[in-house]
Order: sequence, then C-alpha cells, then structure tokens
Amino acid sequence: MKIGIIGAGNIGGNLTRRLTALGHEVSIANSRGPETLSTLAEETGATPVAAAEAARGARIVVVTVPLKAVPDLPAGFLDGAAEDVAVIDTGNYYPQQRDGRIAAIEHGLPESRWTEQQIGHPVIKAFNGTYAQDILDRGAPQSSPARQALPVAGDDPAAKRAVRDLIDELGFDTVDAGGLDESWRQQPGTPVYGNQGDADAIVKALAEASPERTAQWRA
Ligand SMILES: NC(=O)c1ccc[n+]([C@@H]2O[C@H](COP(=O)([O-])OP(=O)(O)OC[C@H]3O[C@@H](n4cnc5c(N)ncnc54)[C@H](OP(=O)(O)O)[C@@H]3O)[C@@H](O)[C@H]2O)c1
Repeated sequence: MKIGIIGAGNIGGNLTRRLTALGHEVSIANSRGPETLSTLAEETGATPVAAAEAARGARIVVVTVPLKAVPDLPAGFLDGAAEDVAVIDTGNYYPQQRDGRIAAIEHGLPESRWTEQQIGHPVIKAFNGTYAQDILDRGAPQSSPARQALPVAGDDPAAKRAVRDLIDELGFDTVDAGGLDESWRQQPGTPVYGNQGDADAIVKALAEASPERTAQWRA
C-alpha cells in the first residue's frame, strides 16, 4: 500500500521502519527537506520527498509533527492522495513544553478536531498515546496473550477500518474509541495515555477518562 508519512521524528521514523519492513511503499517527509532524510531512506527503502509531495497516491497518510507545526503544513498537501485516503493524526497538545497556547483546545475542542480544522480533512486519531519505541518492540502476532491494544477514534468508518487493519498488521490490537468528539478520552493525562495494556484494559481506561483537562496539560 502507498503510505505517506509527514514527520520523520520518533513516531514517523519508527512507523517508516516497520511499514517498509512489512512491504509498504512509504514516502517520508520532514520540515527541512528530503536531502536530510538520506540515512533513514537508506536504512528502510522509504522514498524521501518534500512534505507537499508525501501524500501523492497514498491510501493512508500519517501526520506526525509537533501540534504547533500543523498549521505550517503545505496548503493542499492532500490534494494528490487517493480519493478515499485515511489521514492518521498522532498528535498531542503539549502547551507547556512545546506547543504554546492554542485557545480552541484550552476551551475544550478535542485536539484532533483542531488538527482536522487546520488541514481541512477528517482525521483518525491513533498512536498518540503509544511510546515510539513500542512501535518497534511490542508488536505481536494476532491472538498473542495480552497483545497490546491501541485506541482509535474517528468519524469515518471506512477510514477507521483501514487504520485499524494497518495497526493489526503492525502487531497490535485496536479498540474503537468512538468518534472524534469522544477523542478527549485518549488525550494526554487520561488513563489510556501511555497505557500498554490489552484490549480489555484499553476499554476500561477509556471508560474511566474525565473530560477535565488537568493543570499539567493546560497552558
Ligand atoms: N515521541 C513519542 O513517543 C510520541 C508518542 C505518541 C505521540 N507523539 C506525538 O506525535 C507527534 C510527533 O511526535 P515525535 O516525537 O515523532 O516528534 P519529533 O521527534 O519531534 O519529530 C517531529 C518531526 O516533524 C517534522 N516537522 C516539523 N514541522 C514540520 C512541517 N511544518 N512540515 C513537515 N514536517 C515537519 C520534523 O522535521 P524536522 O526535524 O525537519 O523539523 C520532525 O521530523 C507529536 O504531536 C507528539 O506529541 C509522540
């Protein structure tokens, strides 16, 4: 499958490693340009491209940049993607450490709702509470005991299915975490954030979440 990844850091780099190993055709982009991605390209066989080109022909696009960088993504970067493209948003709002104050999120807009407004396309929220290293280390075959599960939220059932199938290929179960209006349940500070449990544990953690954003996660 053609997959475009925008952001080649902790998450984007490890998704590139695993998805190329599974035989996917990955285009990878960062902010500094494809010439700075030659090491990752040589290691993985991924194609380094400009961010504006990463989605070309892709069935799945992963946006995995710091939240504050989302508005800087090139206008129309999804224009050349497959008609039924599923866009994964891995982002988290880190107001104190990285992103500064984003008023709409402070006022309660789910983080991924903000991101889809910025990019003008629906997103599927996944991987946001997953340690980057786990993508490399913790994948396991289907029906392994205590296989780690990831919550996946989004409004488009077909896009969500495509993302859940891809995560299964990467070696993880998934839990349907509802639509994006419910996606605060997997934001930083919730019980599911960083949770390495199996599907039962993830269902329980999602149910125990509070919509209150704690002081640590406010600007
Ligand atoms: N680290 C984790 O374990 C983890 C886990 C779950 C979720 N997340 C979330 O996932 C997102 C990415 O995290 P990360 O740790 O992978 O970030 P990271 O290591 O800091 O990497 C960020 C990447 O985004 C690229 N980038 C920044 N601005 C860009 C732009 N305007 N256009 C294209 N690319 C751009 C950077 O490129 P340059 O280097 O060229 O600037 C870099 O490759 C964040 O929202 C984070 O909170 C992280």
